[in-house]
Amino acid sequence: MWRRLLSQRHVAAAAGVAAAAGACALPSYCLQRQGSLPSDVLVSVDITERPEDKWIEVEQRKRADGFIDWQSPSSDYVRALRSLRSSFKLPVDTMLALREHFMSEAAKGLAGEPSSLKMLPTFVTKRVTGAERGDFFALDLGGTNFRVLRLRLEGDGAVGPVTSMKFSIPDEVKTGTGDALFGFLADSVARFCATECGGNPRGALGFTFSFPVEQTALNAGKLLVWNKGFGASGCLGEDVVALLQRQFESRGIELRVEALANDTVGTMEAAAYRRPDTAMGVILGTGTNACYVEKTANVAKWRGAPSDEMVLNTEWGNLQMARFMNGHDRAVDAATTNPGLQTFEKMISGMYLGEICRVALLDPTVARGFSPEARAGLAAALGARGSLESATLAAIEADTSPTLAEAEALLGGMGVRTTPRDRALVREACVCVSTRAARLSATAVGALLDHARMGDAACTVAVDGTVFEKYPWFNERMEAGLVELMGPHRADGIKLVLAKDGSGIGAAIIACLA
Ligand code: BGC
Repeated sequence: MWRRLLSQRHVAAAAGVAAAAGACALPSYCLQRQGSLPSDVLVSVDITERPEDKWIEVEQRKRADGFIDWQSPSSDYVRALRSLRSSFKLPVDTMLALREHFMSEAAKGLAGEPSSLKMLPTFVTKRVTGAERGDFFALDLGGTNFRVLRLRLEGDGAVGPVTSMKFSIPDEVKTGTGDALFGFLADSVARFCATECGGNPRGALGFTFSFPVEQTALNAGKLLVWNKGFGASGCLGEDVVALLQRQFESRGIELRVEALANDTVGTMEAAAYRRPDTAMGVILGTGTNACYVEKTANVAKWRGAPSDEMVLNTEWGNLQMARFMNGHDRAVDAATTNPGLQTFEKMISGMYLGEICRVALLDPTVARGFSPEARAGLAAALGARGSLESATLAAIEADTSPTLAEAEALLGGMGVRTTPRDRALVREACVCVSTRAARLSATAVGALLDHARMGDAACTVAVDGTVFEKYPWFNERMEAGLVELMGPHRADGIKLVLAKDGSGIGAAIIACLA
């Protein structure tokens, strides 16, 4: 479907550009060039040829290219554009190298050798059929909010009405004591039960817990490490289900945790409930990760009960990216609480996109490309870590008005006065950061499918998370990346499907399987 849309849009866009320029044979980026220029002046440094499916980039880069004074091509503005584009370029040969790196780390992780990919067994050994039925509760912890859900699985892939409540977790609870964090979760469940269930129901519960956990059973697992801004004390190495159940007991809550699931696993199972060909669950949100189905015989480190296959949690956010990071990535990583870890996540997830862009905008070569007023405004507004949110990048990219009016208002709200050219440069920084993130994500999807020996088989990749759902063009950029990495035939069989809010529902389905 997307692919069809993509090509229709491409045809329309390409036709529009060609008609406007009265040209037909040139690749569309050439239409942006005016006058005669030495060959090294072409600012789109990472794109020497424009394959058809790069039209999104062509369209978006037109805006920044449109402000180039072609008579003075070595201006600070051009240097800023060139710096951004070369820092964040991810050409296909780098994607291929990353795919090799990913597959080699995945093989080591499976074998139990030292690897940045943990490849964690999940104890989910049964396939979802869509026929599962019953009333369940689910909890979803892992990002900005904690959600409590009650739902009915109706069979035939149908989920009945879902009742849910969302609780925002204060930072001091995320980083306080384990008792306070799990107590907060239990209090939220008690509130949900009181307001939505008329008291203290009994029942089975699936617990989506989106951090690296070494599972010891379907409903037990030890926390390996915190990330995404969580850091509650006294939890590392502890069974997170026991921590929660203890807080339930002290409050008289009668729900039983039957399944512990990573959000990727929940997302995959929720999608599989409707689409049995679902091969992978991916989260592209505050954090990032993926799971897939592996033959248990290939999991050399597995010591549990025999089974044909099992869902594995790759924890791909921790893929070691030192070879692929630029100076901005290194600066972002160095300022985190876990430098050197989760480096793949730090290049693509919602928690970091804004921060990468902030660091890039303050880079001296880039900063010199702005008018003096905007440069001073950006330096003042973006001085503090975390002062540029990923949602702001998304809003700036979503602004397609001729004068970038929305971007002007957003930046103005931050005290940054801009000219149209300044806004085009800010927008270009957003495009560079997010396009690379989408192409990195596509590379990881392709690498994991190759690792799983999916061959040419058509499959569904269930994706959830705000970056995939809300960031403009993220899906299309991923699809274009997959085409480059795997070729159009194989890429066409891969359906990236939004499995919205699947993780909680999926945990309930796993509780049902239990
Ligand atoms: C966690 C994963 C999780 C992902 C998406 C990462 O930071 O380590 O377990 O699946 O975020 O929420």
